[in-house]
Amino acid sequence: MSSAREEKTFYLETFGCQMNVHDSEKVIGTLLQQGYRQVESVEEAGLVLYNTCSIRDKAEQKVFHRLADFRSLQSKGKRFGVLGCVAQQEGTRIFERAPHVSLVCGSASYRNLPSLLAELEAGNPRVTGLDDRETDQAFETEFTVRNNPHRGYITIIEGCDKFCAYCVVPYTRGKERSRASRSVIREAARMAERGFTDIQLLGQNVNSYRDPEGVMSFAGLLAAVGRLPGVRRVRFTTSHPRDFTRDIVEAMDSVPAICNHVHLPVQSGSSRVLKRMLREYSREEYLERIAWMKAARREISITTDVIVGFPGETDEDFEQTISLLESAGYDGVFSFKYSPRPNTPALQFPDSISDALKAQRLTILQERQRQLQISQNRRYLGEMVEVMVEGYNSSRGQWIGRSAQNKVVNFVSPALVPVVGGYYDVRIRATFPNSLAGELERTCWTPERSPVTLPVLQ
Ligand code: 5AD
Ligand code: SF4
Repeated sequence: MSSAREEKTFYLETFGCQMNVHDSEKVIGTLLQQGYRQVESVEEAGLVLYNTCSIRDKAEQKVFHRLADFRSLQSKGKRFGVLGCVAQQEGTRIFERAPHVSLVCGSASYRNLPSLLAELEAGNPRVTGLDDRETDQAFETEFTVRNNPHRGYITIIEGCDKFCAYCVVPYTRGKERSRASRSVIREAARMAERGFTDIQLLGQNVNSYRDPEGVMSFAGLLAAVGRLPGVRRVRFTTSHPRDFTRDIVEAMDSVPAICNHVHLPVQSGSSRVLKRMLREYSREEYLERIAWMKAARREISITTDVIVGFPGETDEDFEQTISLLESAGYDGVFSFKYSPRPNTPALQFPDSISDALKAQRLTILQERQRQLQISQNRRYLGEMVEVMVEGYNSSRGQWIGRSAQNKVVNFVSPALVPVVGGYYDVRIRATFPNSLAGELERTCWTPERSPVTLPVLQ
């Protein structure tokens, strides 16, 4: 019998954002193409890979804990690889911290994975792919493995040129490089032909997209993908307020498939803090963009990211963030305590806010936002919402799906069994801070081929 290593098996665990999740789909496709088989546990695998996130210290530490947990398995012939942002940030220092690691590869080097894997297979104990952050090339591969047959990601821009004072991304993912609109549209059309109805355009800074061939703007690309036959929903994330132009809202007004949801990270409601964060917009400019969205034909749901406890943030600054939550009327807020990151300009400011104060501000902010969401979600009571079904929660006896506004909707369906990937109108009967609940009223559209097995969600 051949050993696990000769069989070429791999296990991959992904940490972090949607960009990482999608990068992993490309890495998996590349490995399968190289003759590897994916397995579900570390124990079964010859090659163990972690696609890592370093946005905050906690995320980074998680990876090192995971590596430490599995250290003893090296003696069983397993190889370990660190991919993604921690790999790019820490580089060969990872070999010192975790000597059982033999592959360290940043996201800009995934194009070279086949040759890096060949080196690894040849027995090289220290293989690195770290040098390509200044590349003009985006990582495109025809081998991407998309696990969800209905909703798929397409990266349209990689990297970030903004250099916000707290953020490690420009150092881990390198400079911005956009993919040609022709190539994006070709991939979206191919996905639509294969039955994907929900397409998510991705980028760390998605709306600073610049077509390298100069054919279309970001808004033009959104509209073009939204008009493809078979595409029912187009989403895009994450938008930067500085690059958020009015034509994006106009595209949403004129193309119904563009989902009426925008994730627009504000980070702080205080212009003074925003300036120190190097965000390149003021509170007023941000609120102007919110006003454009509020004036759209369809109601646009808006979500955001907030950092509390950035160096020098006073009680008054924090109060301004709270008051901005009220003015913007967010449908969801992801909030974080400031975490000092290597290489970033904010390291020049002392991390002046104690952890206890950061935690206190975070709690206040989250509780205020929870109350706002409770009252805002009530507007859906009695409304009809179109939901794409994602699965069935057997313990609750409810189907689960998402609206175009990205709201989680749980619903019952006494009269018919919905199909995963199908679209249904659901009458909302109850609302909660983070979800809606209701009853299926009618079918809008179902896929021709229904899945054989039903994903059961917990
Ligand atoms: N500390 C805390 N939060 C951060 N984010 C980015 N960098 C940091 C940091 N150093 C948050 C921002 C960003 C989200 C993805 O993570 O809010 O929008
Ligand atoms: Fe980080 Fe700012 Fe770029 Fe977002 S825009 S990835 S916060 S540097």
